[in-house]
Amino acid sequence: MNELQLRIVRCPPFADQRMGTAGLRKKVRVFQQPHYLETFIQAVLDTLQLPPGAMLVLGGDGRYFNREALQVLMRLTAAAGVRHLVVGQHGLLSTPAASNLIRMRKAHGGFLLTASHNPGGPDGDFGIKFNMPNGGQAPESVTEAILRASQSLQGYRIAELPAIDLSRCGVQQHGPLVIEVVDPVADYQQLMERLFDFDRMAGWVRAGNRIVFDAFHGITGPYAQRILGGMLGASPADLLHTDPLPDFGGLHPDPNPVEGRHLVELCAGPDAPALAAASDGDGDRNMILGPACPVSPGDSVAIMLDGASLVPGYRQGLPGVARSMPTSRALDRVAAGLGIPCFETPTGWRFFCNLLEAGRIGLCGEESFGTGSYHAREKDGLWAVLFWINLLAARGDTVPGIVTAHWRRYGRHYYQRHDYEIPDAASAARLMEALRSRVVALGGTALGGGRVELADDFHYHDPVDGSESPRQGVRILMDDGARIVYRLSGTGTSGATLRTYLEQYQRDPAGLFCNPGEVLAPLGRLAASVAAIETHTGLRQPTMIV
Ligand code: G1P
Ligand code: ZN
Repeated sequence: MNELQLRIVRCPPFADQRMGTAGLRKKVRVFQQPHYLETFIQAVLDTLQLPPGAMLVLGGDGRYFNREALQVLMRLTAAAGVRHLVVGQHGLLSTPAASNLIRMRKAHGGFLLTASHNPGGPDGDFGIKFNMPNGGQAPESVTEAILRASQSLQGYRIAELPAIDLSRCGVQQHGPLVIEVVDPVADYQQLMERLFDFDRMAGWVRAGNRIVFDAFHGITGPYAQRILGGMLGASPADLLHTDPLPDFGGLHPDPNPVEGRHLVELCAGPDAPALAAASDGDGDRNMILGPACPVSPGDSVAIMLDGASLVPGYRQGLPGVARSMPTSRALDRVAAGLGIPCFETPTGWRFFCNLLEAGRIGLCGEESFGTGSYHAREKDGLWAVLFWINLLAARGDTVPGIVTAHWRRYGRHYYQRHDYEIPDAASAARLMEALRSRVVALGGTALGGGRVELADDFHYHDPVDGSESPRQGVRILMDDGARIVYRLSGTGTSGATLRTYLEQYQRDPAGLFCNPGEVLAPLGRLAASVAAIETHTGLRQPTMIV
């Protein structure tokens, strides 16, 4: 068999290839600089030291620059000795489907080309992340090693390959390299069939329950067509924006009440479907709504746990659950009722992976519209939608019926996130430092009419591998069940975003149906004044509230 022709390209290293909450994310134009993508991939490959003949999974959300980047990826991984590439047809794979494929095929890992919910197109964002053989994102020890490798790199090695055609499924051989182009949906669909009661769910749809799903021209369109349309019988007209487009058709593929306001409005009106939902660019986030009833992500995961015994894949019970620290504590209450542990982890899915891998948890979620379970090592948007459909069908109830029954039983966690876009990243960093230096002294003091029960900078001790993750967000817990959390986003590509997370617990049945904006307004003002947001940034109002 012909050997591959290798070429060595020498170039100076780039200093800015630190991965954030979910991989390396930059403006498309940054990735388009000569050698930028190549050196990053080389740094990953140098760090991983894959065994000769290794197998990798490759795919992405279809955003602008995916096609070019995939060709480069195939040539660099081939030069590093990889001999089997499993690639989604047209270069497409949703993030959870890629995670599943890595695990199923026992691959040595995978590269996912995505900037998740960030806008796409030539002026938008691009991203790349590496997932480990367990299907989960590389842990911090690996990403730090990749950063060090990227900073001392002298160049990269690339194999000469023809332009690879990814438009047809099947196996291609290029010298010693096998490239297997696979249907992006098939294996994922089978996984879903093992978890959910599709007969019952299809019956629920046949009984007249309408599902509306918006893919925002991201990756989930083909998945939704086959699973929601083909298997459950949802009407094609109710599956929106289902062709993946490089610029997401100009949409911002972020499933939240701001970008998904058309779904919020639909659900508020007379034509509300039984369930409306959306996913993001790479298919790992979800938003769930019912008639006049948006479901907050913190409530959603708590309600899933509460009803898990009704869903086939979860009937056997769950060993424990987890949520990211800023996520509302609604999940903790259900877990306490079931007598199972609820772990609190830093923001970012990778912190759940150790717990999932060790079998300590079976369900987990984040406030940022991310929910997932033991079935993959990434959060999973369409899975969450299917879980809700299964719950609705099994309970024979409506979304508002399920949500209000939940609040009556457990109390309601009013919740909002206020984001401040700060153009000057240095002033955002100063604000956080000032807050950190003051926070411990707040413990036990009076604040905004209440008393501070606990104030600290969250430090995570991973119970599985013993690793420490300090400085994961400043939190202030009040004695009346209120909480404020502050942290800086790790996924932005310019300036800084300060996220303040507000939570207020309400047990009184008379107070369960208030407007979250009104309930949380005083806490929002308190959060702004404690951190002196206006003094540091000039911003008097949050840029976005979700
Ligand atoms: C955001 C979310 C976080 C999520 C991540 C990747 O990160 O807050 O929960 O895991 O995107 O989807 P952040 O920008 O806050 O660092
Ligand atoms: Zn995503």
